[in-house]
Amino acid sequence: MDGRDLVHSVKTVGLVGAAQRLRTVRAAWRRRRADAAGLPARGAERARVPGQVREVTPGPGGGVLRFGRSALRITVAVNGAVFWGWDGAGPEPSYALAGPCPEPDPRAVLEPDKDGGWRVVAERMTVVVSRNGAVEVRTPGGVTLRRDLPPRWWEPVEGGPARWLQRSEVPADARFFGLGGRSSGPRLRDGTYRLWNTDQGRAFVPGDDPLYITMPVQLVVADAGTHLVFHDSSWDGTVALREGEEGAGSGHDRAGTCETRMEGGPLRCWVIVGSPARVLHTWAALTGSPALPPAWALGHHHARWGFGSEQEVRRIVAGYREHGLPLDAVHLDIDHLDAHQVFTVDQERFPKLRALAEDLRGDGIRLVSIVDPAVKAEPGNAVYDSGTAHDAFVRDTSGRPVRGVVWPGEVVYPDFTHASVRTWWGTLYEERLAQGFSGFWHDMNEPTSFAAFGEPTLPRSARHGLEGRGGDHREAHNVYALCMARAGYEGLRELTPRQRPFVFSRSGWAGMQRYGGTWSGDVATGWPGLRASLSLVMGLGLCGVPYSGPDVGGFDGSPSPELYLRWFQLASFLPLFRTHASLRAGRREPWEFGAEVLEHARVALVERRRLLPYFLTLAHLARRTGAPYVRPVWWGSPEDRALRDCEDAFLLGDCLLVAPVLDPGTDRRAVQLPRGLWYDTATEQAYEGPGQIVVDAPWSRVPVLARAGAVIPTRGADGGVELEVWAPAGGRTGAGLVVPDSGDGWEEPEIERYVTRREGSRVVVEREGGSGGEPPRPVRVRGLGEH
Ligand code: NOJ
Repeated sequence: MDGRDLVHSVKTVGLVGAAQRLRTVRAAWRRRRADAAGLPARGAERARVPGQVREVTPGPGGGVLRFGRSALRITVAVNGAVFWGWDGAGPEPSYALAGPCPEPDPRAVLEPDKDGGWRVVAERMTVVVSRNGAVEVRTPGGVTLRRDLPPRWWEPVEGGPARWLQRSEVPADARFFGLGGRSSGPRLRDGTYRLWNTDQGRAFVPGDDPLYITMPVQLVVADAGTHLVFHDSSWDGTVALREGEEGAGSGHDRAGTCETRMEGGPLRCWVIVGSPARVLHTWAALTGSPALPPAWALGHHHARWGFGSEQEVRRIVAGYREHGLPLDAVHLDIDHLDAHQVFTVDQERFPKLRALAEDLRGDGIRLVSIVDPAVKAEPGNAVYDSGTAHDAFVRDTSGRPVRGVVWPGEVVYPDFTHASVRTWWGTLYEERLAQGFSGFWHDMNEPTSFAAFGEPTLPRSARHGLEGRGGDHREAHNVYALCMARAGYEGLRELTPRQRPFVFSRSGWAGMQRYGGTWSGDVATGWPGLRASLSLVMGLGLCGVPYSGPDVGGFDGSPSPELYLRWFQLASFLPLFRTHASLRAGRREPWEFGAEVLEHARVALVERRRLLPYFLTLAHLARRTGAPYVRPVWWGSPEDRALRDCEDAFLLGDCLLVAPVLDPGTDRRAVQLPRGLWYDTATEQAYEGPGQIVVDAPWSRVPVLARAGAVIPTRGADGGVELEVWAPAGGRTGAGLVVPDSGDGWEEPEIERYVTRREGSRVVVEREGGSGGEPPRPVRVRGLGEH
């Protein structure tokens, strides 16, 4: 793009300009006025606690306990999760649940406990309720995993939603994870984390909170066990965490604490207990299987805000080809759209998009299109007109459509919390499909409205359908993007029933994995940003959202060649592998960073392509089991405290341990190994875990270790699947799964299970359930020389 084009683009998207600035001031005032008129002041409040238990009614899977000033409903579900809701709240309606609430487990019964309390004994946990409403979750062996003190509500005397506070204690050694995508994780240290999806309006760095995806989902890992707790309320809130401290022989332990405060919504939660794998499995059973991305979405994506023209896209794609760099998708940002319409392609700059899409498709490259929810509020704009005819836009308390400001200027917002609006919106993707797009990138859907001051979103008083229940933006805000993702995903399923939709979304909430994935959003260029982008992927994975990745290089600046390369290498092992920058930042093509970076980037791209069958297998396993592709190193041994505190490495599936370089000037790094034998995949040297090792991390690669006995599906030179087998330790066996899927349809490939064992200096690999003998796929054994 030349200077003239750049200026054109900047103007087109409205980044500069007094008019747009003025609009943001007006929008902020409008927002403030709307809330002053539409939301009564809370006024005086009355505090309430449950009081003493008075009466108990056992029911299937638990029962109802009536207290002096509240009622508590407890149900253990057949999948082992336990639900409890105060003030009689039930599990439905819920935006997080994938379907109707699971059936109660008839074996779980409510029975008297000591001191006037009650308990429900279930297979995987016991829930004990004290006579004044403290709720304790214990392991079957009786060890406490979590203790909720009696909750407290504040109710406006004049009526209106009650605020509430839930204080909890966890074991002194516990570590907190989750709460959606947090920039300063994955271990959530002492601090207060907000539950309000937010576009910070600039590139974010570690510590910026909240970001685009917040969710009241915590994974708590302690020696006593792992549990997930989900407070099913979409309202604004905070979670204040404080890790505990052990007395270390002298003095008492200090428990870890968690204080969840919500501005409204039911006080209800789900708790799941078990190993991390079991917890995530049950969580996925409750909130939905992660959508399966099409195979191409597990390759390399290149995005740019500012391609500006078809010629430029062709030039970049040719650059990839000429440099021998695999490329699978190109993402077109808002500059391919008509600024006045936002759902319509700019005919001047992209006049032959269909032909471009077909040419790229011929080279195995797909086009992905950005989709923003906000619609330019201008009669004559087809989407605005049809949305108006469908009564699709969010209104204020006086019935007028709420206006905000985004790239096209004054905009209105579809109310995705309405089934009919989702259906209408879903039909709009037809136009982009007709242009040849294969995937969709949902952006600005917190939802963002630029504001000169105050919150950059819709007024809290704005009215929403909320599936017919009716309510306002205080309740709808956090689920807005989740509902938009649903609209897109379900629309695409209708329009292209034979293809797996590819939707990824900047914002979302619990359950968003049903419709697709996400990415880091505007992470700041810099080493801290690199670290933050890994934190997001790991944290989201533990909240049930397995498909995500960063914008390699960060959003806002020009990365040094070293930073770019290290980010590129990290992302090549994450589910979404995408390069992207803002209009103002530098380029992201690998050849822009010098010959050395280009060479190492090529190696990373080629390795990613070689591992594609492994990524696809992980995608299928995520769908079937809820296990994220990217897992903390403690995944299989949460009781190992050194692993629990390790944040700079991750497991990719069961087979690989990736130790990215997160600091400048690194050529060696320490790696904390889980139990078992591990091979450095570059040198084949074997190391025995648990423990810490130091390995080389030259510019050419980041350390990757393979678990002894791993069977990894890889792509052979002919495109077929081959097995890379890492020799089991002497006397040990190994295993691996292969889901041979190379498409983007719904066929269910049969899972192939392989077992491997050592026979003297030989490694034998067999397909389980097969006829014995050699497996039907080429095998390459590695790691034989070293032990
Ligand atoms: C914000 C997104 O996070 C970014 O990726 C995109 O380039 C800009 N919006 C412009 O669409």
